[in-house]
Amino acid sequence: MKKIYITTPIYYPNAKPHLGHAYTNVVADFLTRLYRLFGMPAFFLTGTDEHGEKLEKKAAELGKSPKELVDEMSGQFREAWKKLAINYDRFIRTTDPDHEQVVRQILTKLWEKGEIYRGTYRGLYCVGCERYYKPSDLIDGKCPYHLKPVEEKRIPAYFFRLSNYRERLLQFYRENPDFIPAGRREEILNRVRELEDLCISRPKEQLRWGIELPFDREHVAYVWVDALMNYVSGAGYGTEKFDRIWPPDIQLMGKDIIWFHCVIWPALLMALDLKMPRRMVAHGFITVDGKKMSKSLGNVIDPLELADQFGTDFLRYLLLKLPFGEDGNIDKKGLPLIYDELANDVGNTVNRVLRLVSTVEAGKFEVDEELRKKADGLVARLRRLLENLRVEEIVRLYSTEVMDLIRGINAYLNEREPWKKEGEEKRNIILNAYETLLIAMALLSPVLVNGYAKFEKAVGRAELGRFGTNVRKPRMNRLILYPKRNV
Ligand code: MSP
Repeated sequence: MKKIYITTPIYYPNAKPHLGHAYTNVVADFLTRLYRLFGMPAFFLTGTDEHGEKLEKKAAELGKSPKELVDEMSGQFREAWKKLAINYDRFIRTTDPDHEQVVRQILTKLWEKGEIYRGTYRGLYCVGCERYYKPSDLIDGKCPYHLKPVEEKRIPAYFFRLSNYRERLLQFYRENPDFIPAGRREEILNRVRELEDLCISRPKEQLRWGIELPFDREHVAYVWVDALMNYVSGAGYGTEKFDRIWPPDIQLMGKDIIWFHCVIWPALLMALDLKMPRRMVAHGFITVDGKKMSKSLGNVIDPLELADQFGTDFLRYLLLKLPFGEDGNIDKKGLPLIYDELANDVGNTVNRVLRLVSTVEAGKFEVDEELRKKADGLVARLRRLLENLRVEEIVRLYSTEVMDLIRGINAYLNEREPWKKEGEEKRNIILNAYETLLIAMALLSPVLVNGYAKFEKAVGRAELGRFGTNVRKPRMNRLILYPKRNV
């Protein structure tokens, strides 16, 4: 059976993971768990993008070798994901030997097919810096550091025949009208119509920290080509595992890297005769108190600190509540309120229902069709959305109807007042509420990972299906999932 293959961008480990990275990874992890909950096997890939100038420079600044820096920092990413319950199947590093091997193999293939050619790169060189600049880097036409004129140099470089793919890409977008995330389509199509070849190499005198081109050792691969190939190597290219994973089903990213993923990436795959990814899904940027996060504004939220303060489940809940696809704002002062919402809507409901269940006999009961229809309907809709890879709708459904399902249990109890009833009537109300809770908690398990683990200990495994004929008595009659915070 083909696995649902879910990817995130691989992050530059030049600084510790930030909230934007955590956002993508929480969404990816949530989706992976949700697919599995619905019985569909999934494969989740994330990792770090470790080559290139940014890393080389940062290492030099810190007096470290690039390898020392990336070893240390990619470790921090893995630690962070552990803390946020991000359960990836593989953490890929572009310095992993198998990845480097696949990049060399792919470059060789493209070179042999004539998809890559040797040409001339016209660059602006500063002798003082020993590097090339783009015209936009210069200040008054001069090197931004030395403020001296730069030399125009022509150097040999390697190009991918991206311009050959103009028509094929446009055709592909016509056949797959929602491949490019909504809102960006026109702009991207216009740029694709003017597509030029892509320089995919950097001379070693400019950049040493990269993968050498197998057909010219004096050049290293452009970092984006190296990075994009992680999705191929991470799926086990060249092994039999690859066929069970390829192509990617859901590729998540922030809106700033849509061009690379919707244009360069599919063109490279066409050149390699590999099947196209099924969906590209872009999210917006997170702002804090209405502003872009920045050190100078002092509004940066560290995802790990937030998890320390309010818990991992809270952070996941908070991020999944953001309007997916748009920029989402986090209001720092409002965080305790959102915590209370989680504690009340989920925590209190769980505790309340468990207490009630302990007052009646478990087993068979008479099903409340109306209540059950709601739960069944929601499960059926989610299944369809999952089959159609509708990530945006799925995330939206969580902050609305899935939360409504659990809130509805309280309303149901308040309306029916089982504590005022007796015998079978009382028992039926309580067990119907309990059954709905079991379905709602199963649905929430991909979000509230830690809370669900405690819940599972108390009641056994919650499932999506019907329990009407066989509800077992919970082991506990009290469970505080999200304790009151003393602030
Ligand atoms: N290494 C490349 C990706 C290569 S994928 C083959 C890269 N790395 S990155 O570390 O700079 O950032 C990765 C992701 O973080 C991007 O998807 C970007 O959109 C996201 N974000 C950066 N700041 C963000 C916010 N403030 N909010 C949400 N996401 C943000 O690009």
